[in-house]
Amino acid sequence: MPIILAIESSCDDTSAAVIIDGTIVSNVMATQPVHGDYGGVVPEHASRAHMQHIVTVVHDALTQANVTLTQINAFAYTQAPGLLGSLLVGAMYCKSLAIACNKPIIAVHHMQAHVLANLIPATNGAAIPQFPMLCLTVSGGHTQLVYCTAPLQMQVIGSTLDDAAGEAFDKTAKLLNLTYPGGPLIDKYAANGNPKAYTFTEPQIPDLNFSFSGLKTQILYFVQKETASNPNFVTENLADICASVQYRIITILLNKVKKAVLQTGVKTICMAGGVSANGGLRAAFTKLGKQLNCETYIPNLQYCTDNAGMIAITAHYKYLEKDFADISTEPTARATW
Ligand code: KG4
Ligand code: ZN
Repeated sequence: MPIILAIESSCDDTSAAVIIDGTIVSNVMATQPVHGDYGGVVPEHASRAHMQHIVTVVHDALTQANVTLTQINAFAYTQAPGLLGSLLVGAMYCKSLAIACNKPIIAVHHMQAHVLANLIPATNGAAIPQFPMLCLTVSGGHTQLVYCTAPLQMQVIGSTLDDAAGEAFDKTAKLLNLTYPGGPLIDKYAANGNPKAYTFTEPQIPDLNFSFSGLKTQILYFVQKETASNPNFVTENLADICASVQYRIITILLNKVKKAVLQTGVKTICMAGGVSANGGLRAAFTKLGKQLNCETYIPNLQYCTDNAGMIAITAHYKYLEKDFADISTEPTARATW
């Protein structure tokens, strides 16, 4: 019955979680409002904020789980990818605890962890996905289609050639004068808008890959043109613009999911990453699953955006395979699969 403490610090959320025998018993998060003033994550501020938050966040995760450090069997941390300064804070804190307690460490790949968030058992006892399964991972830095045959056996079969889906949301939001991170705000305004109000074209990208940079340019030119004739265009039509942009991002993503399902023959599809918190995308994904006769899974909202719970569930499976890292393992900003 392994008890693992996991730390996530790859970007701008400091998080710690405790998992006992595969069940998440705490998942504590400290966000960093400082970045809101800059319209994006400022790496230097992120590292400093992790330093400020990490002791309290880990303490709270242990307290909520009702376990002490001496009961922990292994310490896990996000090793890559992410902002190097941010990763270093989590890695060093995790290693220090492991050395002090004389326990092994587990190094976790952040994108693999997003996928495995789907294996976190729901509190209502709902089933977890069966393998093989396909996961659409949509975050601020990545857009991937991942084919999985077992918890730790996965292969990226499609990815973005330029911007990630989260960047498409965030950059559009910036253009519309919305604060960072803009994804949740576009989601909110889109709920009251007409998705067919404005038309943005879908890029024709080969295979299972994605591209969002052309869409970004289309939106920029559209907003510039409309604002030239009506300076209040954005504020007067915010809901319709958000709904139309969101509609196009969703169709770009789901048309590739459909293609991947037909290509791989999977009967289970999952979604992961911050963008999978999007209300419109969640509804459309579930509808697509029904059309394709596939079981669909989307993590609970707290496990979509960055969180240590997903690091903990990945560490759980790695622990079962005794996949421990050397204490000298260093975090890296980029990581291949
Ligand atoms: O997975 P995540 O928390 O961090 C990374 O690993 O990048 O994803 C962050 C991204 C941001 O781009 C944010 O705007 C987007 O997820 N996001 C959303 C929503 N919530 C977060 N995008 C659209 N709708 C949302 N509700
Ligand atoms: Zn992430």
